[in-house]
Amino acid sequence: MKYSKIIGTGSYLPEKIVTNADLEKILDTSDQWIRERTGICERRVSREDETSGDMAVVAAQRALEAAGVEAEEIGLLVVGTTTPDLVFPSTACLIQARLGLPDCGAMDVNAACSGFIYALSVADKYVRCGDVKKALVIGVDKLTAMLDWNDRGTAVLFGDGAGAVVIEVSDEPGILSTHIHSAGRHSDLLYADVGVGKGFKAEEHGGVCIKMKGNEVFKVAVRTLGRIVDETLAHNNMNKSDLDWLIPHQANHRIISATAKKLGMTMDQVVVTVDKHGNTSAASVPLALDAAAQSGKIKRGDMLLLEAFGGGFTWASALIKY
Ligand code: UT7
Repeated sequence: MKYSKIIGTGSYLPEKIVTNADLEKILDTSDQWIRERTGICERRVSREDETSGDMAVVAAQRALEAAGVEAEEIGLLVVGTTTPDLVFPSTACLIQARLGLPDCGAMDVNAACSGFIYALSVADKYVRCGDVKKALVIGVDKLTAMLDWNDRGTAVLFGDGAGAVVIEVSDEPGILSTHIHSAGRHSDLLYADVGVGKGFKAEEHGGVCIKMKGNEVFKVAVRTLGRIVDETLAHNNMNKSDLDWLIPHQANHRIISATAKKLGMTMDQVVVTVDKHGNTSAASVPLALDAAAQSGKIKRGDMLLLEAFGGGFTWASALIKY
């Protein structure tokens, strides 16, 4: 039986830091409210001319370098993003050209905040079945470009960034399993109404922006993430105690701690970056993974549970022997 294994991680964060104190100046909000309700202290905001593709290229170069893999060795590129540079070509195709990858398959996967795990799931299947030996998987988003900076319900939550991994075929695990779900019936709770069906110009719609019924999303997220961690452990005949690390989507500290509690894990076993990054959507999980890898927190052989929840709704998980 073949597996895919993560052999390198990389990430990129834009230079500009926006603190809660900065937001207090433009919104009816407070540092105390944002910290207490979300755990966020600051987030990164990309330059106006800095695209998802720009951020992803740097994260990918770092992942390739960490893996010791040359661009020409990559057999598949999958990019989880909801903020593509263009409608088409896909951001993956643009990144493929910039990185000098061979003429391998390159595709975007749009699953909002679950985008990276969805993308990892696709790449894992191609590697496992033997079609591809090495794949590059990226999670990237520039949601700040779609924020209504007058809406305190969303403006304080999001940040920009990119994370990437290189996976390689392996006889040893590896990615043990991935699980993806969606429930389109909840699409009205979290969305950005811009696209071919809605027109593209912000001014035609009173501003292109993310709209969210935060409180309702919160409740479904906690419930749903609780279910998917059970599903993932049961699928692998494992117990909560087999897990070393939880690497969750970084939307809200309260959602993260609810999942950790369900798993009987202490917060010392959870990788938390939401305080510094905010919610970076598809970039959130690979940014947290790379931060944990760079700091030496996670070690080879550790059992990692990755999970995410986002607009769609979509939700996903991956169980990984690192
Ligand atoms: O990544 C994709 C998935 N997204 C998520 O998982 C996000 C899920 N939702 C959340 O994280 C939380 O629901 C929020 C952080 C968005 C909001 O926290 P909450 O505890 O659910 O607050 P709420 O929406 O119930 O609002 C409570 C109060 C309201 O005031 P009233 O009606 O009680 O007077 C809001 O108007 O807090 C107010 N409020 C704020 N106050 C200060 C909402 N946003 C702010 C703010 N600053 N930024």
